[in-house]
Amino acid sequence: MTTNDNDQALIDKLGFDRLPTDIIEKRVADLLDLRGKKAVVTGAGGQGLGQACANRLAGCGADVAMIDINLEGAKQNAELVSKRWGTKAIPLQADLSDWDAVHRVMKESHDALGGIDILINNPVMVVGGAFEKHTKAEIDLTVLGSLTMVMYGCHAVLDYMLAQGSGRIVNIASVGGRLAHPGLAVYNACKSGVIGLTRNLAYEYSSRGIRVMGVAPGIMINPSLKDIVLNPNEKTKSGRDSILTAIENVHVGRVSIPEEVANMVAYVVSDAASYMVGNTINVAGGQAMI
Ligand SMILES: NC(=O)c1ccc[n+]([C@@H]2O[C@H](COP(=O)([O-])OP(=O)(O)OC[C@H]3O[C@@H](n4cnc5c(N)ncnc54)[C@H](O)[C@@H]3O)[C@@H](O)[C@H]2O)c1
Repeated sequence: MTTNDNDQALIDKLGFDRLPTDIIEKRVADLLDLRGKKAVVTGAGGQGLGQACANRLAGCGADVAMIDINLEGAKQNAELVSKRWGTKAIPLQADLSDWDAVHRVMKESHDALGGIDILINNPVMVVGGAFEKHTKAEIDLTVLGSLTMVMYGCHAVLDYMLAQGSGRIVNIASVGGRLAHPGLAVYNACKSGVIGLTRNLAYEYSSRGIRVMGVAPGIMINPSLKDIVLNPNEKTKSGRDSILTAIENVHVGRVSIPEEVANMVAYVVSDAASYMVGNTINVAGGQAMI
């Protein structure tokens, strides 16, 4: 091997010729531009983070497919997105806990958008409550709805992202995946799993052009959570207890709105975050600082 071969081997190893030097003279705000990108947001038919992510990504210029089991909610949210931002927003229906349905709806999204660059993996099903009182069905539903569904989404989108050699995936975790809360043993264990899944997928797929990141919200208020706090009943009491315990450690002294978390989602899928992989970022007002 000549000296030059050695130099070239080093250049290849360190990626000197693959540095994104085109960003140097751009504003950070310009790097957040997602025009031309195609994004899939799952669990986007509710009033929380899913719709906020679709709005934030569309606000940066992306076209979005908005998937939910609740088609009516997805339709209403999609109409608002396209009216507000002037981008394409396509509502689609699927039970994301069903393997075949997830793979089917990912293909529908791909065909309707003309590609998939970004997946935001957001939906959740959870039953809280004292662990010793849980039934098998409750535990199984929470594991399916808080961990397995996220795996299904990643699996289905990788078909397209690996083929094109590029893509960005954001898995929505929770600070609960790093902490403990009353009545949330199963959910928090699943969210630890989401953090681990994110790390491991990044390990396996970064070198193939796919950037996998996680975002961990703290307490994000939406109309149904507000109702649980202000009008608790026997079924929702444990959820209320968890929120009231958690708020004690939220150092900014208030809950958040989903848009504050969706800001981070938009950032991590953008070129401004080109060197971030495998981390799960807390957006939790100081509830977890690890
Ligand atoms: N709200 C919070 O305080 C909080 C805190 C930490 C983490 N999180 C996480 O943030 C994410 C969003 O939560 P959110 O509270 O903003 O709710 P959201 O409004 O984003 O609602 C979740 C959506 O998922 C959909 N969904 C549920 N099961 C489905 C299924 N089987 N198939 C298809 N769609 C399904 C629901 O219909 C709903 O529209 C979740 O992953 C949640 O665990 C929320």
